[in-house]
Amino acid sequence: MYLGVNIDHIATIRQARGTAYPDPLAAVPICLAAGASSITAHLREDRRHIQDHDIERLAATPGLHLNMEMGVTDEMVAICERLKPVACCLVPEKREELTTEGGLDVVAHKARLAAAVARLSAAGVRVSMFIDPIPAQIRASRDIGAAVVELHTGHYANLTGEAQARELLALTAGAKLAADAGLIVHAGHGLTLANTPAICALPEVEELNIGHAIIADAIFKGLHQAVADFKAVMVR
Ligand code: PXP
Repeated sequence: MYLGVNIDHIATIRQARGTAYPDPLAAVPICLAAGASSITAHLREDRRHIQDHDIERLAATPGLHLNMEMGVTDEMVAICERLKPVACCLVPEKREELTTEGGLDVVAHKARLAAAVARLSAAGVRVSMFIDPIPAQIRASRDIGAAVVELHTGHYANLTGEAQARELLALTAGAKLAADAGLIVHAGHGLTLANTPAICALPEVEELNIGHAIIADAIFKGLHQAVADFKAVMVR
């Protein structure tokens, strides 16, 4: 199972002071040495953390498996087509949100998303759809030609008790449905050392994308240890 580390929060700290440091690119070798397989960065429309020069340098880093997270706008599709990261993850994006709040509504925006998937796939980028584990959204993702679905674990992460168990069942069924439909299955959002093991137990899930908890842990134990601890939980 692959671990992708989202490095947006390193840029968030830099942007908070308008300094040149900390440079999110400096995290790349540390994350890879600690067990990460890929690096995720979200170039938001409002450029609140990752900047164009960050995503350009990441895309130009030899051998790096870069997963560019992005909203589905003409501007972002054009940037992704030009930079050709290994992968991209399409997410819904609202200016006022603190983080990506829900999955894409592929059913409602099928034509627009199909056009974006076609353009990005033609550029050689592996396209992932960030969706809730809802059968109609999974089928629609397959229908429009996406290679990957990233199942949104944020609701699971925020719930407790029976409600969390119900959401885990939905993720379990969703992962199976997606794999049966020929899709590669990823998962992410809100994952912590405590709630990750149940997601790792889903046999179809090949990759987890984790940001907030890793960068938060890194404050106290350093980035290498924070990444290594997630990787250890995943391997176990
Ligand atoms: N996957 C996607 C599609 C996301 O939007 C995010 C948040 O940027 C993550 C994974 C990582 O979520 P978190 O920062 O809560 O680990």
